[in-house]
Amino acid sequence: MLSPLRPKIEAIVNNENVEIKIRLQQICDLLRENISYYDWVGFYFKNGTKDELKLGPYSGEPTDHTIIPFGKGICGQVALSNENFVVPDVKAQDNYIACSINVKAEIVVPLFVNGENIGQIDIDSNTADPFNKDDEEFLEFVNKEVAKIL
Ligand code: SME
Repeated sequence: MLSPLRPKIEAIVNNENVEIKIRLQQICDLLRENISYYDWVGFYFKNGTKDELKLGPYSGEPTDHTIIPFGKGICGQVALSNENFVVPDVKAQDNYIACSINVKAEIVVPLFVNGENIGQIDIDSNTADPFNKDDEEFLEFVNKEVAKIL
């Protein structure tokens, strides 16, 4: 179900006629609309020289959490760990920032440019424990593609 989306991601990334911000938006929309258990899809990026993340393009309900300090929540932890973070049950996490009461699970995958962790893709799911290795590999692919245009 995920692999047919790979050429579509490549096509979006390579479309130089479209502003980069819009291409990132198209990727968020593509993922949310085509993967049933992806209910909110967004990019966060390091905010200049500050130790915080700033929300970039996203698809889904608006969130209050447009700025997240490093270390806070799942996103802030990934900014420091440089590792994928899969949360099968958000209720079991102490250091978690709730965006919506409907969210049951989350996956955050860091985005590297020249080896530096400059942001991440964040997916919220309203389905319990929906993410597996395929999601991790697919989102790593998405981030590698996006890294080419950042
Ligand atoms: N749940 C995230 C905050 C971002 S929202 O999911 C959009 C976290 O704990 O970092």
